[in-house]
Amino acid sequence: MQHNKRHLALIGMMGTGKTTVGRAVSELLDMTWRDTDQELVAKWGCSVAEFFARYGEERFREEETAMLRACLEEQRLLLTTGGGIVLREQNRHLLSQWAYVVHLDADPHEIIERLQRSEEERPLLRGDLSARVHAIYQARRDFYRFADLRVDTTGRAVSDIAEEIARAWREHV
Ligand code: S3P
Repeated sequence: MQHNKRHLALIGMMGTGKTTVGRAVSELLDMTWRDTDQELVAKWGCSVAEFFARYGEERFREEETAMLRACLEEQRLLLTTGGGIVLREQNRHLLSQWAYVVHLDADPHEIIERLQRSEEERPLLRGDLSARVHAIYQARRDFYRFADLRVDTTGRAVSDIAEEIARAWREHV
């Protein structure tokens, strides 16, 4: 590889399927898969929601950046991230420097449907789910634009999305 982008990273709003698609991509490409949130949960011994409640979002963002750095120092990984990782300029810079970045996007209405089915507790979605998703979607859409590839997942099968990403990655490496 002639460049530094040795990792494959999936970014995107909560509910865009990063975890589901990540699992499928890691199998297709036989890549080691890490998820920044899952690594943090393992390190803390408590859920993201519990961490937010105890220490707040700012402290979570500090931990998230430190975990991102640690993951990017490893050998080639498929990396999935929390939806808000793009909020910090520093994280966007790190990701674009060290990873081929894929933005998973979806229509907000479909995001809402997926999140309604999800059992995971998401601290930033408390209250009116629909209003929260629309507000966060609008507020963050520009932050995802630095990605190398945007994939619209609306109405698509996981296997189809995973194959598109695997194809793009093979062309990249
Ligand atoms: C967040 C997304 C969550 C998790 C935390 C904050 C966000 O991850 O990191 O609740 O700010 O969008 P998922 O995108 O995997 O739900």
